[in-house]
Amino acid sequence: MEWNIVTLDEVDSTNEYAKRIASEVPEGTVVVARRQTAGKGRRGRRWASPEGGLWFSVILKPPRVDPRLVFVGALGVTDLLRDFGVSAGIKWPNDVWVEGRKIAGILTEGKANEYVILGIGLNVNNPIPEELEKTATSMSTLLGREIPLEVVLQRLLEHLSRWYGLFLKEPGRVVEEVRKRTFILGRPVVVITGEKVLRGRAVDVLDDGSLLVETPEGPVKILYGDVSLRIPEMDTIEQKG
Ligand code: ATP
Ligand code: BTN
Repeated sequence: MEWNIVTLDEVDSTNEYAKRIASEVPEGTVVVARRQTAGKGRRGRRWASPEGGLWFSVILKPPRVDPRLVFVGALGVTDLLRDFGVSAGIKWPNDVWVEGRKIAGILTEGKANEYVILGIGLNVNNPIPEELEKTATSMSTLLGREIPLEVVLQRLLEHLSRWYGLFLKEPGRVVEEVRKRTFILGRPVVVITGEKVLRGRAVDVLDDGSLLVETPEGPVKILYGDVSLRIPEMDTIEQKG
């Protein structure tokens, strides 16, 4: 993949910026910003994006919009962290965690037959806001030193190239790897979808990317989307890496 990097000082959200230019630029255009004033997670939640973190969005033009594209981001980030000696796990469907804390989040947004925006937020050298101190971490906190953002971006893009290539050819193999790197399988989970709350045990990530949860009423398939996943025993989880 040929990357064409657009660097901004400040932007509302790199995902929003990418959506604004997506139809006029080629696939592989990457929008990266030093800070975002309205960085967002799923369901419009805020994503803290002060200077020092890696906040970027990749414009992809796959043959079809596929929810499994979020895994390309999660796998790329776990590979990147491994390059730095950090063992990370995937919290299905869109988070990367280290030692029980969130270090990165991925937000995909797409327009059918046009584009998919793969937005990645990775805490690198940025401060962690006080209200997230117990739930978030960063590369510099874990490594005890600052890491040049250009190096992190370059390496991460290499990993994304590889996973995106595999995704286009054999999406099943991408899911297979997510299955290996997620730390939720076998764990009790609470799934919150809108007003519904479901309790059970996460048992598998299915080939279509959905999560299979075993409940007292039988198996339930959870689609990637507006679901919030809680893992009550999170504190005791040993993550795979
Ligand atoms: P959950 O399944 O726990 O609801 P989620 O992936 O659905 O998680 P999102 O709404 O997608 O959550 O992500 C936004 C959330 O991530 C915020 O509500 C906040 O708790 C957390 N967050 C915001 N900024 C950061 C950051 N820089 N690093 C780590 N976590 C953050
Ligand atoms: C999540 O955890 O739900 C996803 C967080 C995604 C944050 C990234 S930062 C770059 C891109 N721009 C945004 O506004 N969001 C994504």
